[in-house]
Amino acid sequence: MLENNLWYQNSIFYEVHTRAFSDSNQDGIGDLNGLTQKLDYLKSLGVDCIWLLPIYPSPLKDDGYDISDFYNVHPDLGTLEDFKKLVEETHRRGMRIIADLVVNHTSDQCRWFQEAQSNPDSPYHQYYVWNDTPEKYRGARIIFIDSETSNWTWSEKAGKYYWHRFYACQPDLNYDNPAVREELKSIMRFWLDMGIDGFRADAVPYLFEREGTNCENLPETHAFLKELRRLMDAEYPGRILLAEANQWPRDLRAYFGDGDEFHMAFRFPLMPRMFMAIAKGDSTAIVDNLDQSPEIPANCQWCTFLRNHDELTVEMVTSEERQFLWDFYAPEPRMRLNLGIRRRLAPLLNGDIDKIELLYAILFSLPGAPIIYYGDEIGMGDNIWLNDRDGVRTPMQWSAKANGGFSEKLTGNLYLPVIQEGKFGYPQVNVEAQINDPNSLFNRLRRLITVRKSHPAFSRQEIEILYRDQPEIFAVQFSESGGKIICIHNLSSRVQDIVLPDLQCNLLTQSTNQTKYGIDLPAGKISLEPYAYVWLSHCL
Ligand code: GLC
Ligand code: CA
Repeated sequence: MLENNLWYQNSIFYEVHTRAFSDSNQDGIGDLNGLTQKLDYLKSLGVDCIWLLPIYPSPLKDDGYDISDFYNVHPDLGTLEDFKKLVEETHRRGMRIIADLVVNHTSDQCRWFQEAQSNPDSPYHQYYVWNDTPEKYRGARIIFIDSETSNWTWSEKAGKYYWHRFYACQPDLNYDNPAVREELKSIMRFWLDMGIDGFRADAVPYLFEREGTNCENLPETHAFLKELRRLMDAEYPGRILLAEANQWPRDLRAYFGDGDEFHMAFRFPLMPRMFMAIAKGDSTAIVDNLDQSPEIPANCQWCTFLRNHDELTVEMVTSEERQFLWDFYAPEPRMRLNLGIRRRLAPLLNGDIDKIELLYAILFSLPGAPIIYYGDEIGMGDNIWLNDRDGVRTPMQWSAKANGGFSEKLTGNLYLPVIQEGKFGYPQVNVEAQINDPNSLFNRLRRLITVRKSHPAFSRQEIEILYRDQPEIFAVQFSESGGKIICIHNLSSRVQDIVLPDLQCNLLTQSTNQTKYGIDLPAGKISLEPYAYVWLSHCL
């Protein structure tokens, strides 16, 4: 398996925040050794590839996306040796591991920026983007609209303004400078030489700036990204680049190039539409998006997701759709952040395990390789009162023991408080309890993963949408060698009667809540219970 260069097309990905996962030395902070100790857990869920959020030295003003040293590990998390061990142990279990590559910016605490500010003759000065006034590049939007008012910040030391697309403490790198482009390549080689299987490249649309544009998705940016791909193909074949580009479908599609840019890209435009569909009991939003999605090259793959470590972004929807999603999923002002919603999957669905299972089933039936955000496999809750996006980054809930088993012996403070109260508190929601309960979300998800993996055809791009005249239903059909696979999902709160296609099928799997009516395939009809699904295979 480790030899297949297209492995990513049919992998189950899992996003880990090391700081939040497991604390091995009882200092209240999750660490690399803690994660290594939990690899068997990830393997048992069916994970193929782990994505690590930034693990580098950082003042943590943006939870590690503000890097102060690109060639090391944050001391809270361990050492480079611990990192190597994690990579080795991951590979030993037949899994892979990719890490965040923060391309666009550094921390203002990075030595490069410190030198850049204090000495205009330092080569590092040209690592950043400077101007005497804040008037340049006015066409670029502000991304963190709740906290920033400009993409320029005045540097007292340098006596000029510097450019930043995110927090002011994250100065953008100057990609017009060849030295910066070379530096990034050394960073890549440094981590790839340690054995990692690729990168999730952060915030890639913003690398170059040009007057008179919105400074996103520029041809210069694509050209440089293709250069990085050539490096990967030439020196590290079989390793991947996964793009984070929160863009409209056409602009997003461009990051695949002709199969010569990114191997994968997060399928941002689809994500909010899955939440819209289940809220409305109507699949139109998903279907329209699939109909309008451009094709991607054969050696590429989407990475599909429901939630991640950021706010659920509702940037790439119409303003009416955004208002609907906000009203429905973020009725309290504190639940909103920038153009998004700072909540986790389970609370968004009121902890309704059948709906969560249904959304995962839909995700798994769609073209793409799905990624699961840590904790969402057990339906963890959030804490909207924490700062910024911290509310969806609380400690993993392993057991009903102290600190949810995240840091069992510690009596002091954790890096963030564990969720203890209410229906999402760790006494109720934890890994240990769910492993022992066949109907838990963990075991439902594990079954879905097993089924999906036993049919590699799930990774295909071609699908046919069925039951278009029954919008309560979302159903797809696609081919594999033994016949067709048909996945039928009921998004509504009412029973749906379905007339099956005139084919002989086997039952592949069905939702836990499809108990009342049973499934009588020869009858050619199914009554699907509210929020239930059925997957059929070998349909001939
Ligand atoms: C990406 C990350 C986000 C971070 C931002 C700036 O969008 O997902 O967490 O704040 O980039 O690095
Ligand atoms: Ca620790």
